[in-house]
Amino acid sequence: MGLNVQTFRKIRQSLIFLIGTLLLFSCGNANPNAGATSTAPVTPSATPEAPPTMNNIIPKPHSVQPAPGGFLLTAATGIHVPSGNEEITAIGRYLAEKLQPATGFNLEVIPASGAPGAGNIYITLEGGDPALGEEGYTLAVTPDLIALVAYMPAGLFHGIQTLRQLLPAPIEQPTVQPGPWVVPAGVIRDQPRFTWRGAMLDVARHFFGVADVKAFLDEMAYYKLNRFHLHLSDDQGWRIEIKSWPNLTAIGGATSVGGDPGGFFTQEQYAEIVAYAESRYVTVVPEIDMPGHTNAALASYAELNCDGVARPPHTGMEVGFSTLCVGADITYKFIDDVIRELAAITPGPYLHIGGDEVQTLGTDEYNAFVQKAQSTVHKYGKRMIGWDEVGRIDLLPLTIVQYWNGPLAAEAARKGAKVIMSPASRTYLDQKYTPATEPGLYWAGYIEVQESYSWDPATQLEGVSEGQVLGVEAPLWTETIRTFSDVQYMVFPRLIGLAEIGWSTAAGREWSEYRLRLAEHGPRLDARNLNYYRSPQVPWV
Ligand code: ACM
Repeated sequence: MGLNVQTFRKIRQSLIFLIGTLLLFSCGNANPNAGATSTAPVTPSATPEAPPTMNNIIPKPHSVQPAPGGFLLTAATGIHVPSGNEEITAIGRYLAEKLQPATGFNLEVIPASGAPGAGNIYITLEGGDPALGEEGYTLAVTPDLIALVAYMPAGLFHGIQTLRQLLPAPIEQPTVQPGPWVVPAGVIRDQPRFTWRGAMLDVARHFFGVADVKAFLDEMAYYKLNRFHLHLSDDQGWRIEIKSWPNLTAIGGATSVGGDPGGFFTQEQYAEIVAYAESRYVTVVPEIDMPGHTNAALASYAELNCDGVARPPHTGMEVGFSTLCVGADITYKFIDDVIRELAAITPGPYLHIGGDEVQTLGTDEYNAFVQKAQSTVHKYGKRMIGWDEVGRIDLLPLTIVQYWNGPLAAEAARKGAKVIMSPASRTYLDQKYTPATEPGLYWAGYIEVQESYSWDPATQLEGVSEGQVLGVEAPLWTETIRTFSDVQYMVFPRLIGLAEIGWSTAAGREWSEYRLRLAEHGPRLDARNLNYYRSPQVPWV
């Protein structure tokens, strides 16, 4: 019985493959850019129906060598993974799940050893090049085989995002599409420029639940982003359960900007987010902002205030007025408990303590507080991250500073700290595209798609050069962002460009070329049903 089924499968597979190959070559070259190299000018396909090329991938890969022909994906295509490797099997299943809705194929994930026969996808660490690092990969497509090889599983996962983008745009549709599903032939060798490629979501000013966060993570993964910074507390809301201080969520979690509904994550829900992110090779970076941006905590516990009086909830948008009582012992018991509980449910190595915009403390008071917070983060086994204001203190060797607006990131870099580049005037996704944009703020300027793309992390800030830059991150503050549709509109397409800035080499990165590739992604954003800003700077197809 088993033999018969196998024989049948083989014959069926060969027939489908033969028909597919005939189809490919009767239609001419599946890849109109065949013979081009990565240095050749990009000629994006003119319509969403045209076969995809190797030249429309975002972020732009390190090297691309197109070849004639293409691989036809069929219902008989197997996804071969090394037997006994759970992690790569899960990556294979992820690929099968992503391809299922539009193709209607239930592609089989087949644990096996060695390269499979013609008509299959091969995912392996065998022969992975260590020179491509933990996140690099090689994707080799011939009419016979798709071989995805990496040194580490994260590289395989990123390679799968590239493979998704090599298929025609309707591959992103949630329902069955006609196909054919041709992957252009060629070889892509790829690896990121920076290790930190992040996005931040402020769930404090407006709360977004687990389903929205997972959808956000899926989009991050598609563009090879790997750090998800969750801004979990602020004046207007406290969003993570701390079991030793339950009022933080009972009281502090109930509010949002403008009187909108509150909300919070239980520790179990947070763990679910962390696990989902991990499955997409994204590290969660939790932030509890302190000593300022703490009104939600100060409203939850009277004893955290120097005068012993609980603050009223804050649902406005002003900043800078709140601070923990930095001279009181209870404050240090509080931050110890919060950091201890948060560190215990955070497997990633980072914990962000904010430290920004404190207008009611003297410099010495501020410095002493942040110094203690840094020791506490370190005690619980994490690397502290702070916004650039923390650059003033004596930094521990592994502390990271996140540049947003001020002069202190360069000071921190001089002291040896690594810097995450989030210049507000380029990366703040809450800033309006133009005066007509609703929602959004504009204190850092209007940030059209070109402005958000046309900068380099190694030359943006005097005193911070390539070797001191850990990477890039785009924060989405949510004072004016009330719905997940608003989130999408402010994020897309700017986050896509940020992903490219973090991943792709600086040499040859040009807006005039990027805008054409971005245009080709319009049908993909449409197919994923995302609300995005159709900037007039981009010739959308
Ligand atoms: C910030 O925008 N206050 C970091």
